[in-house]
Amino acid sequence: MGVLGDFETAANALRGARRVVFFTGAGISVESGIPTYRDKLIGLWGTYDPQGLETAKAFRDNPALVWGFYLWRRFQAKSAKPNAAHLAIPKLASDVRKVSIITQNIDDLHERAGSISALHLHGSLERPKCFACNRVARLPLEQFNLPASGLEKNPPRCDHCNGRIRPGIVWFKEDLPPGIWKESIRLVRSCDVLVSVGTSGIVTPAADIPEIACACGAVVIHFNIEDVSLGGENELMLIGKATEVLEALLNELG
Ligand code: APR
Repeated sequence: MGVLGDFETAANALRGARRVVFFTGAGISVESGIPTYRDKLIGLWGTYDPQGLETAKAFRDNPALVWGFYLWRRFQAKSAKPNAAHLAIPKLASDVRKVSIITQNIDDLHERAGSISALHLHGSLERPKCFACNRVARLPLEQFNLPASGLEKNPPRCDHCNGRIRPGIVWFKEDLPPGIWKESIRLVRSCDVLVSVGTSGIVTPAADIPEIACACGAVVIHFNIEDVSLGGENELMLIGKATEVLEALLNELG
């Protein structure tokens, strides 16, 4: 198998597979209107560097600003609709072919596309938790409203300990949720095919997933607008927009 692949080889690998893992990143949601992590922020947040807001220190220093930032990101994600790439994934599941999703994305577009459970390695905008006691907070929907004016909004308080509620996101320098990481590794080690869609492979440990799959003998298919292959023997690199390449794959599978 060569590094630059074709749809026929990719479809054949999937036809013979019983366990398929999709590993997705920001690139799968771009065509739904959600920018990647390498794009500059726009609009009200245009002058901010997201990396400066995505840390526990930033939340400690200015909780209202960081909470406001994530309310805006949730609004952006909620306004977006699943695209053909999200929708293609549940269509690939069948009685014999089990399909799992491991995503680095914090939006809920996989779930809204009909995928029953996606493992969210970097957390989710839908699961805020307490900064002090770590309990997941069940917030009434109005708590997610954008600030009426400006960027900042004080985060709500925890029912249990009165700590500040923080976004349920894995920030820079924080550990991945241990249970989710363990389950992801179990799935990756036992899959026949791993399909990586729209991820730059920069941020570890999540970025190690394709390499782990390769090392365990799975066929690894990358879909991206640029070459992100690792040079492994069982790898295929299909270059194109996520919606187009996944639709082409579905067509090839018939
Ligand atoms: N179709 C397919 N791939 C695309 C598309 C598209 N339409 N548009 C962009 N891409 C690709 C880019 O080429 C890039 O490889 O999506 C990838 C996006 O890369 P990142 O922004 O680095 O996103 P991701 O890999 O998900 O980032 C990993 O980094 O900042 C952290 O925690 C954050 O989960 C995130 C992690």
